[in-house]
Formats: sequence, C-alpha cells, structure tokens
Amino acid sequence: MHELETERLLLRRWRPEDRTPFAALNADPEVMRHFPALLTRRESDALADRIEAHIDHEGWGLWAMEVRATGAFIGFTGLARPGFEAPFMPAVEIGWRLAQPAWGQGFATEAAHASLRFAFEALELEQLVSLAVVANERSRAVMRRIGMRHDPGGDFDHPLVEPPHLRRHVLYRLRAVDWQRSR
Ligand SMILES: CC(C)(COP(=O)(O)OP(=O)(O)OC[C@H]1O[C@@H](n2cnc3c(N)ncnc32)[C@H](O)[C@@H]1OP(=O)(O)O)[C@@H](O)C(=O)NCCC(=O)NCCS
Repeated sequence: MHELETERLLLRRWRPEDRTPFAALNADPEVMRHFPALLTRRESDALADRIEAHIDHEGWGLWAMEVRATGAFIGFTGLARPGFEAPFMPAVEIGWRLAQPAWGQGFATEAAHASLRFAFEALELEQLVSLAVVANERSRAVMRRIGMRHDPGGDFDHPLVEPPHLRRHVLYRLRAVDWQRSR
C-alpha cells in the first residue's frame, strides 16, 4: 500500500478511528451540498469500507488525509475508478472531500498535487479525469488549480444521481504530457 507525504499532510491508509470524524463530515449539509443526501453513520461506514477495499485491491485509492502537525483526520483525497458507465470510461478519477473546518487552507490542492504525481509517475497513467456537479465551484476551482481543463464535450448526466438539479456533471481532464510540460 502506497502512502504519500506532503509538506503539511499525510495521505495514508484508513484507521478505525477515522470513522467517527468521517461520519460527521458526511452528515454536514454544507459538505454534502452537491450530493443527493446526507449519509447516516451506517452509510458513511459502508463508504469507508468500499474505499478501503479499493485500496486493498489496487494499493492506492482515496487516501485518508491527516494534518501532520496535529494528527487530525480531515477527509480524503486521491484516485478511484468510477463505479458506473459513462462515455469517458474507462478512466481513473481524482477526487476530494474535506471537513468544513479544513477548507480554505489549500489542503485539497496540496493533496491533489501529490496524487497527480503518484498517478503519472508511479502508475504511469496517461490521463486523469475529475467530475463534479456543475454548480460545485469549489471543487472545480481545485481542478483548475492543479492544471485540469474542462472538456465540455465530456459533460454528462450521472446515471446514479436521481435529483435532476444534481444530475448534470462537468468533466475535467489532465493528460500526463500536459502535466509534465507544466512543471
Ligand atoms: C471541494 C473541496 C475539497 C475544496 O476545498 P477548498 O478548501 O476550497 O480547496 P483547497 O483545500 O484547495 O483550498 C483552497 C482555498 O484555500 C486558500 N489557501 C490558503 N492557503 C493555501 C495554500 N497554501 N495553497 C493553496 N490555497 C491556499 C486558497 O486561496 C483557496 O481559498 P478560496 O476558496 O477562498 O479561494 C471542499 O469544498 C469540499 O470538501 N467540498 C465538499 C465535498 C465535495 O464537494 N467534493 C467534491 C466532489 S466533486
């Protein structure tokens, strides 16, 4: 299992004690604004189980994020294979979800940079995608900060999302060659 370290963060394997703060952020309406529903404790634990199973299977995934200075768990950032059919599949996506007090400090961007480097250098992927509900401007800003570009031709209706206003998703892409050129 690969763990990543940045200046301020540890992207690490999940621990049992992450489950309570993870459930708290999944029950926060502001964090979940662009998702169909808040998660119950049971649903949050099931999501953590799926994330851990992905990491066990692949050796990488949506890492638990820990602030090195405090040891606090603040959410996840990392890589995943989307579990649904879409025109851009197969693909590996980069994604993030942080507890609200951890917003506004550049943590998602810092963790995303480390995840990109891992994807392109260790996994030697040719491309990454990222997806968000159209109105999720904070997430789209992270995508732009790490050099991803909106591919309007790839925008799609998420097949697993029921509420019509949350169904339309934007697709962002970053190719390894463009990432290498920008460094
Ligand atoms: C999406 C999400 C991770 C973005 O969090 P964020 O705090 O806006 O993003 P970052 O961690 O990159 O921080 C960037 C902000 O920190 C500021 N910042 C402070 N120090 C910084 C630093 N050292 N480096 C970069 N930015 C820094 C930036 O100016 C920016 O502030 P702004 O939002 O006022 O412009 C967060 O809003 C979230 O978890 N949302 C809910 C879950 C979700 O929607 N996930 C995505 C689904 S597609």
